[in-house]
Amino acid sequence: MSLAGTILSEQHLLLPTYDRHKVLFEKGRGVYLWDSRGKRYLDFLSGIGVNALGHGHPAIQTVLKRQASRLIHVCNLFFHEYQAELARQLTRISGLDRAFFCNSGTEAWEGALKLARAYARTLGTNGHKPKWRILALENSFHGRTFGSLATTGQAKYRDPFGPMLPGVSFVEFNDVADLKRQFDGSVCAICLETIQGEGGIRPVSPEFLNTARTLSKRSGALLLLDEIQCGLGRTGRYFAYQHYGVQPDIVTVAKPLAAGLPLGAILTTKRVASAIHPGMHGSTFGGGPLVCAVAIEFLKVLDQSLDHISEVGDYFREKLEWLRARHKCVAEVRGMGLMLGMELNSADLAKLAVVEMLQRKILINRTNDTVLRFLPPYIIEKRHVDGVIRALDEVLFGVAKDHRTLNRKSIARSKN
Ligand SMILES: Cc1ncc(COP(=O)(O)O)c(C=O)c1O
Repeated sequence: MSLAGTILSEQHLLLPTYDRHKVLFEKGRGVYLWDSRGKRYLDFLSGIGVNALGHGHPAIQTVLKRQASRLIHVCNLFFHEYQAELARQLTRISGLDRAFFCNSGTEAWEGALKLARAYARTLGTNGHKPKWRILALENSFHGRTFGSLATTGQAKYRDPFGPMLPGVSFVEFNDVADLKRQFDGSVCAICLETIQGEGGIRPVSPEFLNTARTLSKRSGALLLLDEIQCGLGRTGRYFAYQHYGVQPDIVTVAKPLAAGLPLGAILTTKRVASAIHPGMHGSTFGGGPLVCAVAIEFLKVLDQSLDHISEVGDYFREKLEWLRARHKCVAEVRGMGLMLGMELNSADLAKLAVVEMLQRKILINRTNDTVLRFLPPYIIEKRHVDGVIRALDEVLFGVAKDHRTLNRKSIARSKN
């Protein structure tokens, strides 16, 4: 079906949840995608951090074909050969002890919140209510289901669906004093993204993360890190928390785990896992043989990719800083490895810049209104970065000029 036909059909058939760019993709290979008119695009978004090995990676294709022809799904009433092996790999790289598999980021986060509440009930109540309050961060994003929404510190996602799950309070991002003020013995979990993704690529400060770790450890509360966007190699280490030297009690991952197939995981300690018994939590699809076999292969490739991610990430960041020095409209560059954001001084400019990059056949997106977000596949090379920087340089000169002209026109109109 043509692009025009697809747009029309979707208007009549789908919930209007997405404001899509008018491009219909048909095929991908490496760092490139091709649309229905045969035009090639450089992918610097990788399906919002999912296609971390690019498109059609040969090792992934081989496992996918082999496993699809053997066994796709069995359900969790039976064993299959891959869940334990995948858990072994994930626990090895995270320093945690136990894994649970589900299908998406939000599901992993829901499970993590349930685990924190269940663990708090095992602590002994000493005549008081079990710990139950959850501290989350302003400007955070944890997903679209109710627990995740309730801990998401952005009113625009929560407000249309209230009332929310009770017991959640929001701490100002990186405000240590506010964290200390709001923390007490009733808190069962401190929850945060090590680097806020949808919140505009904002790394948590070492001081804030260390304080969260110290407070939670001292009182028996848990530290939950959402690494759904920033984990699994994105920052050049297996997990972003490994840059800080802080060990969490629970970590959630998803996006790149099965190289494009839906798979999420909760990772935790032996002690916390002991709060869960058969029947308390589960999933029909989660951790099937096909997705787990692919994820094992993804982690094998990742083992060989971390140095490359750090090297190209540092190079990319340097180049973005170079753009910041050249363009007044660039306020700040943030992030680590291949999770980078460039904040512009206006939301309109950022919106225009994404459209202009798309016209130049480069995929990026905008998050938190003003931030250009770059989540390229781990296989990009410096020459791809150079191409993106050249295009951004042109685009930023162009959009800033257009924006100034528009502003002058609207000031003139308002004076008349
Ligand atoms: C940090 C973080 N947590 C949770 C989610 C939700 O993941 P999913 O869309 O797979 O449910 C996202 C998605 O963008 C995310 O970035």
